[in-house]
Amino acid sequence: MNSKYLYINTMGCQMNVYDSLQIQHRLAPLGYNPTEELSRADVILVNTCSIRAKAEQKAFSFLGRLAPLKEFNPQLIIGVGGCVAQQQGRAIFKRMPHVDLVFGTQAVARLPKMIERITATRRRILDVAMDEAPRAQDFALNTYQFDGISAFVTIMRGCDNYCTYCVVPYVRGRETSRPEEDILNEIRHLVSNGVREVTLLGQNVNSYGLKESRSSFAQLLTGINAVEGLDRIRFTTSHPKDLSEELIGSFARLDKLCPHIHLPVQSGSNAVLDRMNRRYTRVDYLHKAALLRSICPDIAITSDIIVGFPGETDTDFQQTLDLIAEVEFDNLFAFIYSDRPDAPASHFRGKVPDAMKKERLQAVLEFQKGHTLKKNQALVGSIQKVLVDGLSKNQPENDGSSTGGLSTAQESWSGRTATNKIVHFINAVPSPFPNQTLTGRLMDIMIERAMPHCLWGRPLHQHDEPLGKGV
Ligand code: SAH
Ligand code: SF4
Ligand code: F3S
Repeated sequence: MNSKYLYINTMGCQMNVYDSLQIQHRLAPLGYNPTEELSRADVILVNTCSIRAKAEQKAFSFLGRLAPLKEFNPQLIIGVGGCVAQQQGRAIFKRMPHVDLVFGTQAVARLPKMIERITATRRRILDVAMDEAPRAQDFALNTYQFDGISAFVTIMRGCDNYCTYCVVPYVRGRETSRPEEDILNEIRHLVSNGVREVTLLGQNVNSYGLKESRSSFAQLLTGINAVEGLDRIRFTTSHPKDLSEELIGSFARLDKLCPHIHLPVQSGSNAVLDRMNRRYTRVDYLHKAALLRSICPDIAITSDIIVGFPGETDTDFQQTLDLIAEVEFDNLFAFIYSDRPDAPASHFRGKVPDAMKKERLQAVLEFQKGHTLKKNQALVGSIQKVLVDGLSKNQPENDGSSTGGLSTAQESWSGRTATNKIVHFINAVPSPFPNQTLTGRLMDIMIERAMPHCLWGRPLHQHDEPLGKGV
């Protein structure tokens, strides 16, 4: 079979990253090899995100740039998938005449057939069908080859929470949990491919299995914790209203569960939380954060904030800053509120002017900077287990100033602590195997210097020594 090439541009969240990998594996039997060169591709797929207006604009601007490629090579197949595809469907064909295929968020398993059909007929295909309950086989193939040490595993799809600002329930459909055995099989398969860390994905993993009366998320975690050869378990995202005491207890109970939770709060004002339909109060959130810390004192808590939600007053905003100060997050992602066509908040009154939204965003980011640095500084002098993910992209500056004066003659590596902080270190210990890779190793690193976005440290053992297990 002739080699053909597939280029995928993945935008948006980790679910899209997971789906894109599934797409790649599903198209491999048709002879498609992945490429990173657009000009070489026979099929170009864009896996889009619709969470904010900017994400959608990014998708269309990339698609627009593909038109000349299609003119040059009329055999080229261009497909649009993901959340913008689900939301806009046929309208994409009108706006982008060079697009051959629009496939929704539940159409990934049908993609190989569609590509074959377009190749044979050169006719456009639209598939944005949404089932109430997608079938188990639509989630994932459990037999693909995986390169790397850390993998995402989708454990549920969709969302039933209907936060008033959010497009996800409309573009990802109803919340559906994947059977536990199916998830465990995929994880066992990944581990047999060399994976040491999995991140479980869902819009609200805390409600895993509730609808189907299956095992709870905490029970699923217990099952995954028993998978031999796996070292670390992470998950994202948790909705504060569904964060149970059973799940909080898992952080003390399960040795492979990393002490990090991403727990988006969105706002510190009860009035705003209510209009967002978040269904918890500021005090509920503070209580859960305190409980997490009492069960697991080292836990890192990160969060998302939306600034400029309709009707957000200066007092509401101040309450958000106060909550940030009270919780002292390890890290924070802040977003300017953006109207989404299907989401009810787009019709809410009291739109906050753009300039004020920008000001508030800057204020949140500036305010958080100090907390992030303080959390990083608290680790200086400690020994952290770091799962090495490869050579550092940012090699240290030569004057040694960013490395705390460490020698920069050797290559630098990077990885993450159990609390999900990035650590760079110089592999100063001479190795008897010069080309030996540290990728995939769990190493004890003495933290020597804290930067705003990362840590620098020194390995405590030679990398050819046997290494410990666990987080
Ligand atoms: N399911 C996750 C969030 C998924 S979206 C949860 O419930 O926490 C990721 C983040 O994007 C959200 O936490 C929110 O902070 C932000 N977001 C979602 N819709 C938005 C909008 N319309 N405007 C700005 N930010 C938004
Ligand atoms: Fe969106 Fe809310 Fe669902 Fe998260 S929980 S995906 S913010 S509707
Ligand atoms: Fe974006 Fe869809 Fe994920 S809207 S954030 S790609 S679920």
